[in-house]
Amino acid sequence: MNPLAQQLNETIARDNPHVADMLSSLGKAMYLPKLGILSQSAEAKQKAGSYNATIGIATENGKPMHLEVIQETLSAYDPKDLYEYAPPGGKPELRAIWREKMIAENPSVAGKQISQPVVTNALTHGLSIVGDLFVDAGDAVIVPDKNWENYELTFNVRRGGEMVYYPLYDADNRFNAAGLRDALLSRKDKGKAIVLLNFPINPTGYTPGVEEGRAIVAAVRDAAEAGINVVAVTDDAYFGLFFEDSLQESLFGQLSGLHERVLAIKVDGATKEEYVWGFRVGFITYGGLSDASLSALEQKTIGNIRSTISSGPHPSQTFILRALKSDRFQAQKEEKFRIMKGRANKVKNLLDSGKYGDVWTYYPFNSGYFMCLNLTVDAEAVRQRLLNAYGVGTIALGETDLRVAFSCIEEGNLEDLFDRIYQAVLDVKAGNA
Ligand SMILES: Cc1ncc(COP(=O)(O)O)c(C=O)c1O
Repeated sequence: MNPLAQQLNETIARDNPHVADMLSSLGKAMYLPKLGILSQSAEAKQKAGSYNATIGIATENGKPMHLEVIQETLSAYDPKDLYEYAPPGGKPELRAIWREKMIAENPSVAGKQISQPVVTNALTHGLSIVGDLFVDAGDAVIVPDKNWENYELTFNVRRGGEMVYYPLYDADNRFNAAGLRDALLSRKDKGKAIVLLNFPINPTGYTPGVEEGRAIVAAVRDAAEAGINVVAVTDDAYFGLFFEDSLQESLFGQLSGLHERVLAIKVDGATKEEYVWGFRVGFITYGGLSDASLSALEQKTIGNIRSTISSGPHPSQTFILRALKSDRFQAQKEEKFRIMKGRANKVKNLLDSGKYGDVWTYYPFNSGYFMCLNLTVDAEAVRQRLLNAYGVGTIALGETDLRVAFSCIEEGNLEDLFDRIYQAVLDVKAGNA
């Protein structure tokens, strides 16, 4: 093993041997080279007053070389904020400002030891880094039975983790913290589990309430007390879109420093929050360890980025940074929040109006982009009927679940949308489809 990787492992182990044990074999081997092209270039940037002939970009007239056909559409930006490589860990100012934003929006993070967020190529990449650094073949990856389908590729197919499912809702239609606890404790003999907590959840648009949040944290604590090392990951993709009286912040704060056998990791980003899906800007942040260990995990994370994508896109980091610094940012975000909330409320009013009889029930939702119908007929048949007879696209999940993204339907069209879904269900029921 490279001595630098060994040093990082020793730093973590000295602070918390359980966290050192949580690392996968790739995670243990990972490090960020101290000496090499990156460090020599950084040194030259500071000291090479005459000529800087280090890094593999081209320059002209003291600026990154660029084509006018590109720059003419981006003239608000300085070429140095677009064309140069961003550092592998991301633009330092963006990392700092995202950290401030996270603390402001998540009061329970204040006072906790957290790392500097590392910039990822959006959330999928952040999750994939978690997989690389913490999941070995056979490790349990615990998710509810309704989850984002990509988890399976990320953690099972790529890393050989074993997906362990528990029912998302309990008999009272609340978050099934007891199910999570059972799933965790079922791994007692293995001594390790990765838990993915995604609120608002894709696909049902649910965020637990404060009490349910406490029960989730208690389940993780119970598992830790039973001797299980828990990598507790919050996937906060839809953060902030809380329309009702649910938790209004990530569980990352409560999970950070919860127990010596719990490592809290926050995966979040601008994708859905800032309505910039194609920009690919996300973050990964570690919580609850000493500064030295947090820095060691940051270095392993950046080493992982260096060895996969080298660095994330610079223009989109610049765009997001500019937005976050703008005094118009909050007002514009609130305006979009109101639109999304209006749609969610409208869907709920329609579903509760009695108009659609009992052809479906819906899973509790209070947040995010989606809601999920639980149909009394085959969801795939309804999906097909909707596409072929009514020009409507939805997502069929499992046997009877139909996911509807109200995020992309204007409020004024929602009634027509659900009328069509209702018709399609009736058609399938009547055997007409
Ligand atoms: C729960 C969840 N996590 C992560 C992502 C991925 O986000 P990104 O587009 O930033 O990779 C999605 C996207 O659909 C999602 O629904």
